[in-house]
Amino acid sequence: MCGIVGYLGKGNTLDILMESLKRLEYRGYDSAGIAVFHKGRIEIRRCQGKIWDLECSLKGERLDGHLGIGHTRWATHGRPSEENAHPHKSGKVAVVHNGIIENYVTLKEVLIKEGRHFRSETDSEIIAHLIDKFIEEGLSFEEAVRKAMKKVKGSYALAILYEGAPDTLIAVRKESPLIVGIGKDECFVASDIPAILKYTRNMIFLEDEDIAVLSPRGVKITDLEGKKITRQPKEIQWDPVLAEKGGYKHFMLKEIHEQPRAVTDTIRGRISLNKGELFLEDIQLSAKTLKALKRIVIVACGTSWHAALIGKFILEELCRIPVEVDLGSEFRYRDPIMNKDTLLMLISQSGETADTLAALREGKKKQVKSLSICNVVDSSLARGSDGIIYTRAGPEIGVASTKAFTTQLIALYLFSLYLAQVQGKIKKEGIKELLKELVKLPRLMEEVLAGDHEIERIAKKYVNCRDFLYLARSINYPIALEGALKLKEISYIHAEGYPAGEMKHGPIALIDEDMPVMVLFTRDKTCEKVLGNIEEVKARSGKLIVVTTEKDKEVLRKADDIISIPKTNPLLTPAVFVIPLQLFAYHMAVLRGTDIDQPRNLAKSVTVE
Ligand code: G6P
Repeated sequence: MCGIVGYLGKGNTLDILMESLKRLEYRGYDSAGIAVFHKGRIEIRRCQGKIWDLECSLKGERLDGHLGIGHTRWATHGRPSEENAHPHKSGKVAVVHNGIIENYVTLKEVLIKEGRHFRSETDSEIIAHLIDKFIEEGLSFEEAVRKAMKKVKGSYALAILYEGAPDTLIAVRKESPLIVGIGKDECFVASDIPAILKYTRNMIFLEDEDIAVLSPRGVKITDLEGKKITRQPKEIQWDPVLAEKGGYKHFMLKEIHEQPRAVTDTIRGRISLNKGELFLEDIQLSAKTLKALKRIVIVACGTSWHAALIGKFILEELCRIPVEVDLGSEFRYRDPIMNKDTLLMLISQSGETADTLAALREGKKKQVKSLSICNVVDSSLARGSDGIIYTRAGPEIGVASTKAFTTQLIALYLFSLYLAQVQGKIKKEGIKELLKELVKLPRLMEEVLAGDHEIERIAKKYVNCRDFLYLARSINYPIALEGALKLKEISYIHAEGYPAGEMKHGPIALIDEDMPVMVLFTRDKTCEKVLGNIEEVKARSGKLIVVTTEKDKEVLRKADDIISIPKTNPLLTPAVFVIPLQLFAYHMAVLRGTDIDQPRNLAKSVTVE
């Protein structure tokens, strides 16, 4: 969950490392550090806090080498502190690490017995010691890295420097993402695309156990045995401007406002409105495979899991195929039942979430076909799946996911229609109708965004509340979960999302005049029941905020506050309902003065279990 970077070239190493690290801060931000070659020595600067704190601690100091590495940390082993911040150095070797070394305790004991002195509580420090030890024993830098990697168990993305090789940077990965960027007379290493997008669009995506040796002679990639591997660079089409705040106060707000554009991009080229057809060529699963499907299992984590819950409603409605949804962290531990008629779908913004990747591995073990919905091009998930549907949200930097979520819903909608088309479950006219609704969606989203000032006004009224309850039913119930999650994540207010029908089985006990309840109300087959819930909240003096597609007088009379949203097809309603909830959480967080793009204790990509 940490972010690592590396640079080799004639540019200003320190500035490039800092700039790249700032774009990786979403991965962790409790401490930061850099190591730069300066006058033939590796100089390390680290501190507890954010990149900004590191910049301040450098106080304009010039370290003018042409080779360096950097790190922004999300603590797993050892509290956030300067000693535990990366880079870690042993002898002449400095490393930055993202991942977890599972056998570090055993290795550390051996190294301590051999007389090595540890300065941090981290698992990462053992890597520097191991490499340094093997170099002292006579191996070359590269051989020492290879030998060390054979000793460690767990996940890692590493960038390594050695004082004896002042023009070489070694990068290596296993189960943690790592990219090598190729520029003109310079190269880069980074955990993620946005970190180096400003400098180059040509990127090599390292695979597990690849060792990349970067030097002025170019980039050489080998496996752990030293056998040469060829990996072609890919040209990344993302616009670097998308990774900037573009006048918004926070990335999250910018990304909320980008949703109409992101949805349009995700649809583009994939549908024919006139013909009532869908083209999902990138899916890479044959019509024969899709026709034979009898069951779908969707696995995801966090906000992506909420998208999966909605996907179940859409797929079952349009394709009449049973769909099961599971959390990545639970899935593989219960020996899930899957056979050749099952499709395993995985949803992930980053494509690097450890538990989602583990679910993919579980699917491979059971030899089922996999299809991923993913935002990050060529991420581990995208590369490992049989088929892929990319959401085209562009880089999402805010830790709380917004535009990735709505585009995931669109991808699920497109796939459901496509599958229904392939399986002959829907007529062209039916597809045309549903596509007509889909293309109107960005305009409806714009309408909701235009009402932002009203949502801000409502947020001001409730800013001092300590608890929130979110209620909805049916396909919109996962939006209640998502609304509550957004509020928790960025404003640190306790919030729970509940299917409204369950209110009587527990949450009703919490309702009193201090407990605001946000109800999502739309006229569907459960609306009478939701009206009942609204009455029950009012009867207990609860404060009622109703988000609604309706002008229903009865509901409006009961509500303390109303957020009106436009009507759309019921299968698309969640993509509209979620926007006011994102904005509400955003304004609550602004009013409470929290760190919106980098909320405490969270990280954007959870690349460890
Ligand atoms: C973290 C992020 C969430 C995200 C979840 C799953 O918890 O903070 O915003 O929804 O990971 O990430 P993924 O990249 O797999 O969608």
